[in-house]
Amino acid sequence: MSFPANFLWGAATSSYQIEGAVKQDGRGSSIWDDFCYTEGKVANGDTGDVAIDHYNRMPQDLEIMSELGLQAYRFSIAWPRIKPLGRGQIEKRGLDFYDRLIDGLLARNIVPLPTLYHWDLPSALQQIGGWTNRDTSDYFAEYASVVVNKFRDRVDQWATLNEPWVSAFLGHAAGIHAPGLQDPAAAFAAAHNLMLAHGKAVGVIRDIAPKAKAGIVLNLAPVYLTEQAPDDHPAHQSIKLQDAMLNRWWLDSMLKGSYPEVLLNLGDMVTNSIQDGDLAEISRPIDWLGINYYQDSRSVPVFGNEAAPTTMDSTGNGAMPGTRGIRMAEPVGEVTDFGWSTTPDGLRKLLLMLTEDYENLPEMFITENGCAYDDPMVDGESHDQRRIDYVHAHLKSVEAAISAGANVKGYMVWSLFDNFEWAEGYRQRFGIIHVDFDTQVRTLRDSAHFYKEVIATNGASLD
Ligand code: FCB
Repeated sequence: MSFPANFLWGAATSSYQIEGAVKQDGRGSSIWDDFCYTEGKVANGDTGDVAIDHYNRMPQDLEIMSELGLQAYRFSIAWPRIKPLGRGQIEKRGLDFYDRLIDGLLARNIVPLPTLYHWDLPSALQQIGGWTNRDTSDYFAEYASVVVNKFRDRVDQWATLNEPWVSAFLGHAAGIHAPGLQDPAAAFAAAHNLMLAHGKAVGVIRDIAPKAKAGIVLNLAPVYLTEQAPDDHPAHQSIKLQDAMLNRWWLDSMLKGSYPEVLLNLGDMVTNSIQDGDLAEISRPIDWLGINYYQDSRSVPVFGNEAAPTTMDSTGNGAMPGTRGIRMAEPVGEVTDFGWSTTPDGLRKLLLMLTEDYENLPEMFITENGCAYDDPMVDGESHDQRRIDYVHAHLKSVEAAISAGANVKGYMVWSLFDNFEWAEGYRQRFGIIHVDFDTQVRTLRDSAHFYKEVIATNGASLD
C-alpha cells in the first residue's frame, strides 16, 4: 500500500478564522462579525476581530508553510473584503491581499486551493434575507466572477462553498452558527439556495477559466445505528433522514440531479424554494469533490419512555430536526476536547460508499481532517501525540480506501494554525502549529514535525 506519486499534501484554514483585520482595507461586515457581537452566541464572547492576525502576518505565515514543505494550501476568500456590501462596488485592496497571498504561494511551489465561501456572508446581504433569499445565489455568482477573473491565470482549482450543510442547518435550524436562526423551513430554503449558488458559480468558472477544476467542499459522514432495532422502529426512518440531510441532499442534487425522496416527502417546508430548472443548474458536472471528515455519525435507537433529544453536534452527529426514536451515541475512541469521537475507519467507509454509490463521482480530496487538543507549550514545545495518532490513523484509512479503489488525490490537515473556532471561540485548538493568542507567536507542534515528514516521504513515514 502507498499513496499515488502525485498525491497532494496540504493544510487548510479559512478567512474569518485566521485573518482578523475586520475593519482594515475597506472590508465590509459579515454575518460572523454580527454573530460574535451578539451576546451569548460565542464562547467567552470571543470574536474574529484579531484572530491570528494573518491578514498582517501573511508573509511570515508563508515562510512557515515553506518550512513545512506544504504542497498545497487551502484557504478561503472573504466575500466582504472583495464586495463590502455583498454586491456592487469592488474593493481593490481586498483583491490585492489575495493577489499577494497567491503569488507568495506560487513562488514557494505551493498550490493555491481557494474556497470562495467559508461562511462569512456580507451582512448587507443578510439584511435582505441572506441564504433564504434566492437572489443571494446571483450575488454569489457575481462575486465569484470578479475573483475567478482576477486569478484565472494562477489558480487551477476552485471550491465554491465550504460545508453548505453547516451554513444551512447549524445557521438556520440549530441556530448555533451565524445567522443564528431556528427555523427549519429557512434552513431548507438556505440549503437549496446554497446549492443553486454553487451551480451558478460552477458556470462562472467554466466561462471565465475553462481549464480550471471546479468543485465543492462537503462535510460528509457515514450515518448509522449502533444497536439493532425491530424493523418497524422509527429509528430506521430517522437514520434515512439524517443520511439524506447530511450527505445525500448535496451529493444527489449535484451528481444525480435530484434531491432525496425522503426529504421531498416532507412537503412544502422542503420544496418551497425549488423551481423548474434549478436541479439542472445544480448538477452541472464538477471536476473534484472536497471532503471534510472529523467523525462518523452514530445514533442509538430509543426505546420505551426514554427521552430522545433532537439535538445535533457541530459535525452533524446525532439527531436532526424532524427525526424520532434516536439519540446520539456516546463518543468513542480517544475523545477530543470538542467531545468528538475518533473513528478513522469511518473515513475509509465513506470514501468507498461514495465510490460505489455515485457513478459520476469526480476525483476526491480530503479538504479537512483533524482534531482539537489543547496541548500547552512547555519549554517551547507542544507534545501533541494524540493529534499525531489521530492524523496517522486517518491517513492509514485514506490509504486503505485508495488501495480498495477510491480515487483520492490529496489530503489537507485541519488546521495549519490554532484559530477562531466559530461558536467555540478560541477554546478549541486544531492547529498543528500552536498560536499564542496574546503575542501571536507561532510554534510548530510535534504534529507539525510529524506531518512534515509525512509530506517529505509521500506517506512512507507512516509505516
Ligand atoms: C469544519 C469547518 C472548519 C473548522 C472545522 C473544525 O466544520 O469547515 O472551518 O471549524 O470544522
